[in-house]
Amino acid sequence: MKTIIEPFRIKTVEPLRMTTQDEREAALRDAGMNLFLVPSELVLIDLLTDSGTGAMSSEQWAGVMRGDESYAGSPSWFRFRDRMREVTGFLGILPTHQGRASERILFELLGGTGKTVPNNAHFDTTRANVEHTGAKAVDLPIAPAKDPRSRHPFKGDLDVAALERLIESVGPANVPVVMCTITNNSGGGQPVSLANLRAIRAVCDRWRIPFFLDACRFAENAWFIKTREPGQSHRPVREIVRECFDLADGATISAKKDGLVNIGGVLLMRDAALLHRASDLLILTEGYVTYGGLAGRDLEAMAQGFEEVLNEDYLAYRIRSTEYLGEKLVAAGVPILEPPGGHAIYLDARAFCPQIPPAQFPGQALAVALYRHAGIRSCEIGSVMFGGDGRPAPALELVRLALPRRVYTQSHVDYVIEAIVELHARRASLRGMRIVEAPQVLRHFTARFAEI
Ligand code: F0G
Repeated sequence: MKTIIEPFRIKTVEPLRMTTQDEREAALRDAGMNLFLVPSELVLIDLLTDSGTGAMSSEQWAGVMRGDESYAGSPSWFRFRDRMREVTGFLGILPTHQGRASERILFELLGGTGKTVPNNAHFDTTRANVEHTGAKAVDLPIAPAKDPRSRHPFKGDLDVAALERLIESVGPANVPVVMCTITNNSGGGQPVSLANLRAIRAVCDRWRIPFFLDACRFAENAWFIKTREPGQSHRPVREIVRECFDLADGATISAKKDGLVNIGGVLLMRDAALLHRASDLLILTEGYVTYGGLAGRDLEAMAQGFEEVLNEDYLAYRIRSTEYLGEKLVAAGVPILEPPGGHAIYLDARAFCPQIPPAQFPGQALAVALYRHAGIRSCEIGSVMFGGDGRPAPALELVRLALPRRVYTQSHVDYVIEAIVELHARRASLRGMRIVEAPQVLRHFTARFAEI
């Protein structure tokens, strides 16, 4: 059989609310044309993010009931800790309430003025947490990552030669950690190869710099390694995952992605002294080391989620459903960032509406048009998210259609395809936007816009 089906059946349903064109128009007006400010009840298909929006399994819900809410040393903590040790091989495990809490602790310890943190591409909150400490966040993607049409199989790879040059120019003492994001979210959900992770490790060894993964989507990345990297197809995903973690000195993880939960995060590290300092900060701002700002039931859901995500039928379905959306759009002539990523399809807004210059936010214009047309919520990843504050315009103007895990069926995806193809047919009518008001940091969350 060629058809890859959803490897689950549905036990609980949540009704979707259809909206009229007028309701959506009013919602956009009230939200200042910012989709983050639109109430989710007015969204039909919500592709804003794959983070914390997944469906939990019956076993995870069973874990929620089993959750033990003791302040210290709960059996839920031990189950979570043991599962993380089994999957990652790390002994130093700190639970946090989500990925950025792990980042905040890590960069508070390692960042600071005069420091430089390289990464294949920082995600928005990661960049903001690095910069918040006064350090500089530098993205070092390989050249094909900047070409939306390049079908390089590991477009998420970090440019190792550029990393060497950066370390030489700023001095290794000023590079407290090298990060690599798997999969590369701001670069299109593109995977990083095992060969690249090994090469980064070698550079870090030579300069004695710690190597940390931003491992939110570690299982999806491992599936790409298994299916695309020469010599890897015979290996179980579990083993590939373990090798990736073995190459690193630590990791920040948002469990809201491949942890298959609605809330949760992890900070992993090997260095005992660093772990000690991180534990102190965790207690200060998140919670005691055996719960880290989470409930016992959350730890149970995570313990189960980190196991389920390694199921290869699940991963085959997961990556295939994203690819299906991408393939159909490409076949209809819609410009997307190719090849399809793991958790999302990224529309190439610059090519979709070339009449709108980057200064008028083509990605924002496209995202708003898609909501207005079909009630689909997506997310701009371009000049709104990464511009402003004198920063140069990003290389790509993208609109991300992020697929929540185990939530939407193939007919939902077919609806999304139809809506985008219709919008593409009348793309010449799309108009640019200007910012009416915006905060200093992470402006995409709350800025308000007007159409030009
Ligand atoms: N790192 C990456 C690569 C991410 O994609 C995210 C979150 C984080 C760190 C932060 O994790 O949200 O748990 O604090 N990405 C979400 C997204 C928000 O929509 O891509 P968090």
